[in-house]
Amino acid sequence: MNAHVVYATITGNNEEVADVIITALQEANVNTKKTEISQTEVEELNEVDIAVIVPYTYDNGSLPDEGLDFFEDLENTDLSGVVYGVSGSGDTYYVDDFCLAVPKFESQLAKTNAIKGADSVKINLRPDEQDVVMLKNFVQQLIKTAQTK
Ligand SMILES: Cc1cc2nc3c(=O)[nH]c(=O)nc-3n(C[C@H](O)[C@H](O)[C@H](O)COP(=O)(O)O)c2cc1C
Repeated sequence: MNAHVVYATITGNNEEVADVIITALQEANVNTKKTEISQTEVEELNEVDIAVIVPYTYDNGSLPDEGLDFFEDLENTDLSGVVYGVSGSGDTYYVDDFCLAVPKFESQLAKTNAIKGADSVKINLRPDEQDVVMLKNFVQQLIKTAQTK
């Protein structure tokens, strides 16, 4: 089984989330590729069983600027058969706008015919011990879905 984890970050928190996810995938013997969102073509996700997007959220719940092309391209790409999950770090200080990029990516991925493999995970700032447990469960769910699809 193989996976691709695509992240966007300014200050490193979302890369840390991505790395926790990657470690959990690798521990389960899933061959995993990691790329930064502006360096990634949506089409690449068609080469894997599991695709994970890890975006940060900015001004008033905005998507990462450097991820807008990727976001828009999702709408025109068929990812049938690919299992996806979304996790991201934001800041609960922003209350109603907390991690809004996460549901935005989920809605966009739902348009690709890809299969939702796990409920999304929102992280406040850097992942703590509890977050690591949640992310490991998230990865287990993704693998389970990919095994039974
Ligand atoms: C100017 C600014 C605006 C932000 N707006 C939001 C927001 O609307 N929602 C949110 O959840 N977090 C917001 N954040 C917090 C970041 O998403 C949070 O710090 C995140 O962990 C950054 O991820 P990164 O370290 O991967 O860049 C904002 C941060 C800054 C500096």
